[in-house]
Amino acid sequence: MKIPIPNHLEHLSPYVPGKPIEETERELGITGVIKLASNENPLGPSPRAIEAARAALAHVHLYPDGSSFHLRRALADHHNVHPEEVIVGNGSNDLIALLLQAFVHGDDEVLLSRGSFAIFKLAAQALGRKVVEVPMRDRFSIDVDAVADALSPRTRLLFLDNPVNPTGTHFGRPELERLLGKISQSTIVVMDEAYFEFAHAADYPDSTELRRDFSNLVTMRTFSKIHGLAGLRLGYALCDRWIAGYVDRARPPFNVSSVAQAAGIAALGDLDHQKKSRTVAIEGVAFLTRELRAQGFVVPDSQGNFVLCDFGVPAKPVCDALLRAGVIVRPIANYGFANAARISAGTAAECERLVRALGELKKRGLFAR
Ligand SMILES: Cc1ncc(COP(=O)(O)O)c(C=O)c1O
Repeated sequence: MKIPIPNHLEHLSPYVPGKPIEETERELGITGVIKLASNENPLGPSPRAIEAARAALAHVHLYPDGSSFHLRRALADHHNVHPEEVIVGNGSNDLIALLLQAFVHGDDEVLLSRGSFAIFKLAAQALGRKVVEVPMRDRFSIDVDAVADALSPRTRLLFLDNPVNPTGTHFGRPELERLLGKISQSTIVVMDEAYFEFAHAADYPDSTELRRDFSNLVTMRTFSKIHGLAGLRLGYALCDRWIAGYVDRARPPFNVSSVAQAAGIAALGDLDHQKKSRTVAIEGVAFLTRELRAQGFVVPDSQGNFVLCDFGVPAKPVCDALLRAGVIVRPIANYGFANAARISAGTAAECERLVRALGELKKRGLFAR
């Protein structure tokens, strides 16, 4: 007998990650490819994290500490909260899935902004949960007031990324406070602040500061960006103990490896690497924004370590041509932006190479309509 597969899984298109460098080099028979596609840290991992990870490798015959005791304590100290208000995951993707499993059931709805981080929707769909999407404002920004208007008694989780991946735009503290003022006790608001450490706009809100007044607020952060540990998979969330308690029930016992736990603690203390990473990202984004706009492309202001670049023509052939020039960027038609790519801030040399490569394509008339 054939195993029946539910519709929501049968029709789900799996997430397509950024192309790896090795695969691209192999396919095109070229070398020296650079990847500006997955918002990774161009400086590499925190050196202190590598050292701690190496030391932890000697003990991988043992299961990890299932409670991530020391890591959660380090994070709690870092954020001045109680360890019971910290949950950790195998990347923040893991936490998205765990929050859905714990809190969204039956006819409950997951609310999100169309064009925001794709995993919110995919993770909900993979579990067969109902998703309600609110269109963006001015093409690239989350329409916070429209999101508030879309809340219903069935809204169980609201996912918002700030800044938004892939547009880089952000919303300010007044907008967030206005939204939180409209949230009922039956809705949990998940603020995904994966790029928090790069954000520098004066009105950019640190949502952890609002938890005192709003117990249904979850703030997610990750070690994948500022700390350069994307491959180790480590993310965390700060939330009220009652939320943490239910996530813990849904969590597999060893969802964070011992190597990731050790590396995470060390990375938190590596202020030098954090500072350099922030500087490279902010300078890279400023350079890309300026140069790409100078070439006539639309680039919204970004608070992340990446920019969205709207070419005004379908982005797929542009991304393919860039690939042949050895630069991997990310087409984002799957986010609803058929004419745009997401471009991560690399080192200064990498950003210059991308700009030069796009300039060449322009000369060849690729953007003529
Ligand atoms: C908004 C957002 N949240 C979460 C993540 C993924 O984080 P992690 O690597 O911790 O799963 C990303 C990564 O690109 C992201 O852009």
